[in-house]
Amino acid sequence: MIVNFGIDWGIDKTMNKLEKFNVLKEDKRVNSFVPETRCMTEEHLWELLKKYGAVILKPVEGSGGRGIFCISSEANEAFGVQVKLRKEVIASKDIYSYLTREILGDFTLYFPSGEVSEILSETYLVQYRIPLAEIDYRPFDIRVMVQRKNGSPWIVTGKLAKLANSGYAITNVNLGATILAIETALQRSSLNHLSHEALLFQLDHVALWAADQLQRQDPNIKVIGFDMCLDTQGKVWILEANFTPHDYIFLELEDKTMYETIQDYK
Ligand SMILES: Nc1ncnc2c1ncn2[C@@H]1O[C@H](COP(=O)(O)OP(=O)(O)OP(=O)(O)O)[C@@H](O)[C@H]1O
Ligand SMILES: [Mg+2]
Repeated sequence: MIVNFGIDWGIDKTMNKLEKFNVLKEDKRVNSFVPETRCMTEEHLWELLKKYGAVILKPVEGSGGRGIFCISSEANEAFGVQVKLRKEVIASKDIYSYLTREILGDFTLYFPSGEVSEILSETYLVQYRIPLAEIDYRPFDIRVMVQRKNGSPWIVTGKLAKLANSGYAITNVNLGATILAIETALQRSSLNHLSHEALLFQLDHVALWAADQLQRQDPNIKVIGFDMCLDTQGKVWILEANFTPHDYIFLELEDKTMYETIQDYK
């Protein structure tokens, strides 16, 4: 059963978030840049929490940061749970039932627990929560636009950084993230000591490999807006592949060259 709770998620028609991660995982070139991701069951939640100490829950057909839960271990057998600006501490033994109730609300009251678990596993994913590199204690991630024309290979047409709004753990623009030129972000970040050229080169290559792999599943895609990030050590990760990315965020950069390149490539 799939429910959408009456919400119009900005859905990519061909594959949901979990399916895209599964496709990316199958590619040897990008496999190590994809965070471990599972459908949201109690078993998978505990497996990833024990392994990483921090996970993120996302609706498989969500967008704009809606319905995202950031979870990290705390002292005394408890977890910190953050949704937008709201932070709560939940005892370990209650974490699965707490999240189920938060996500499915009244559903949990009227449906048998087996069915509630099934709905949750079909509508949410649980993923390793990457410690994002920061600027002034605010995490940032990176939008990498890749495009192709019929018969031509994929190329990177734009890159920028999204710096989380103050107090937020996620970097969505509709939640007040600030757009920065990628060079500015690297310079101001905790990763300034690393070679910017090498980081940018890796971001481009991983995005191009990932686009190539996704195109095998969906031969019609011409544009992908990857949400990528660097972790606190400078390792590159793929957070998400958007098949209908907004390009207006590139207008917020002072230099409009990337925006124009993106338009030219349509
Ligand atoms: N595995 C992760 N670890 C740490 N932070 C993450 C992770 N995945 C996502 N985030 C943060 O959450 C934000 C939103 O995640 P994601 O892009 O997957 O969903 P969305 O924005 O709701 O979907 P869409 O991009 O389709 O609008 C990311 O931009 C990033 O800031
Ligand atoms: Mg996103």
